This record gives sequence, C-alpha cells and structure tokens, in this order.
Amino acid sequence: MIENLSSIVEALSKSFSQISTLLGIQWAPMDIPMSRRLQTFAAFLWIYLILFGEAFAIYLFIRLVYSKYWWAALLYGAWMLNDIEICNRGGRSSEWVRSWIWWRYLADYFPIKLVKTVDLDPSKNYMFACFPHGVISLGAFGSFCTNATDFKKLFPGMTCHLITLGGHFLVPLFRDLALALGICSSSEQSLLYLLDKKKYEGNCACMIIGGAAEALDAHPKEYKVILNRRKGFIRVAMKSGAALVPVFSFGETDIFRPPNNPENSLLRRFQEKVRQLTGISPMFPMGRGVFQYSYGVLPIRAPVTTVVGAPMEVKRNLEPTNEEIDAVHAEFTERLQTLFETEKKKYLKYYEEARLVIT
Ligand SMILES: *[C@@H]1O[C@H](CO)[C@@H](O)[C@H](O)[C@H]1NC(C)=O
Repeated sequence: MIENLSSIVEALSKSFSQISTLLGIQWAPMDIPMSRRLQTFAAFLWIYLILFGEAFAIYLFIRLVYSKYWWAALLYGAWMLNDIEICNRGGRSSEWVRSWIWWRYLADYFPIKLVKTVDLDPSKNYMFACFPHGVISLGAFGSFCTNATDFKKLFPGMTCHLITLGGHFLVPLFRDLALALGICSSSEQSLLYLLDKKKYEGNCACMIIGGAAEALDAHPKEYKVILNRRKGFIRVAMKSGAALVPVFSFGETDIFRPPNNPENSLLRRFQEKVRQLTGISPMFPMGRGVFQYSYGVLPIRAPVTTVVGAPMEVKRNLEPTNEEIDAVHAEFTERLQTLFETEKKKYLKYYEEARLVIT
C-alpha cells in the first residue's frame, strides 16, 4: 500500500516536472527565508498598486457613491475639489508614509540603491533630470518617493519630489497616496513653485524626462533615452536658476522582459497610437510570478542603482531664447553621456556592451 502510494507520488511529480519543462516554468525553491518572502510580497503589492491602483481607487469611489455612505463620497469630493491645486503648489509630503516598512522591503527585493557622486548644497534648489524611464521608473520611485534608500542621510537638508503627469492627481484616494509620497505635478507652474528660491531651500524636483514614450524602449541591457526633443525642462531650469543634475538608474531596464517591439512593428504602432490618444503607454511588464520564475507581472530581482551626478549650474534667465536653451541642452546632454560612461562599470555586469543611445 505504502509502496503503491509512493510510486504514485513519484509518477505525479515526474509528470509535473515534465509539464513544467514543456511550459518552460522554473519554480521558486521552497526553502526561502522569511525576509525574502516579505520582499516578494512587498514587490507583489507594489506592482499591483502601480498597474491597477488607479482603476481600483475609481472603482472604490464609485461604490462609495452608490452605497449608504454616499455622503462620505460627497464630503471627500468637495474636499478634493478644494484641494485640487495642491499638486501644483509643493504637494503634501508625509515623512511617515515615505518611511513605511513596505518600501524598505520593496527596495531590498531588487535591491534599489541610491548613490551620490558629489554633495549638494542645501541652500539651493535642484532639478534632477532622471533617465531612463524604464517600464515603471522603479529607481526614481524607490529613491525619491520613499525613505528606503536614505535620501535624507545621503543629502542632509534636502527634500525631493518626484514629478508626474497632473492627471494622476484627479484620481480620488490614489492622489492622496501620491501626494503623501511627495509627488507633484509636471506643470510649469508646479515646477517653478518647487524651485522658487524665495519659497524653498534644498528642494529637488525629480523629473523623468523621457516620460511614457521612453517606456516603450525599455528592454534588458538597453539604454535608449529620449532627450534631443525634450527642451521644456531646460527652459524651466533657466527660468528658476536651479542647477540641473543628471541622474541615471543603472539596471532600470533589467527588471522586466517586455516583448520585442521594434519601430514600425505592429505592436509598436499599436502602443504609439494608444499613447497619442491617452498619454499612457500600454506596456507589457513581463517578469516572473510569486511561485515561479517564468511568467507573471512581478518584476525580476535585479539590482537598480540610481546615481546622482554632479550639478550643472544654470544662469537664471527669465526669458531664454531658443539659442540659449539649445546651448544649455547640449552641455547637459554631454554631461549625461559622461555620467553614463564613467559610472556604468561600477553598476552593470554587462558594462562592456552597455551603450547610452540618446534620441
Ligand atoms: C528614515 O530612515 C532612516 C534610516 O535610514 C531612519 O533613521 C528615519 O527615522 C526614517 N524616517 C522616518 C520619519 O521614519
């Protein structure tokens, strides 16, 4: 009887592993330490927050409107309308929310690291120009929206705000989390407010210059960034007199394996069309699952190192001409390229093949 049973188990496990091989599934081992399990859980919750958080928040809000607590939705809606401008006026950062243990486990999963090359002056404001966008800008999120990579310890006296599209602040409930994480809107008014020397000292506005368009080029080991046609941030830096800081996240493109979408392929044309219509790039965050390494939206455990380069002083100029903007833009582009070349050896195993392609 026992013998029968064990031969059945053996046969079952054999066919299980055969099916796994057939489907190309590689299972995670069973004996994973608790801290790693918590890291996986943190990454799992986070990717669902990023992918479905806004849709879920809208769903919750609508449910609330049609429930017997409709008055709570009404009160919230009234408050939100009254509060709608906050994303253009410095936001509402909460050190408590930025210090949640969730973010620390999330950062340790990859791990995400923040590195400085020089000290910053806490009596000045800076514009961080971050590259690449990657699929979801994990490095920028970990380093500039949370306390998990010790931004405050690395840059004493400085405060950072990640910049994102204003549309996110129209989503009820979700906007409160975004604001608590220090995120602000990308409007010119918002940027000039954050970088205003009369209002703030030691503020950093962290912009992901390539935006959603760059996300479509996020493939492992590839660093293709959009900069040549991005001039707005240069103009804002000149208007405010804030120094421009090149920031590069090495490994940002390694945490997912999106399907191939070369220019002019059917998939790419579809993605571009949706992006033009909605401003959002339809991405395919193909990583791993919780219990196996072959399928799923969970990002891959791969190190992401966000390196903050040396600031480039920008002379304050309230009405820069196109030529003046181009000159600053050219110098910044050169500095970004230099930062990539000098730092890549330290953070990329495949640095010899790693090229920064600026378009
Ligand atoms: C931020 O993290 C540091 C550890 O790096 C910790 O000492 C500090 O208390 C944290 N801030 C808050 C508000 O918890």
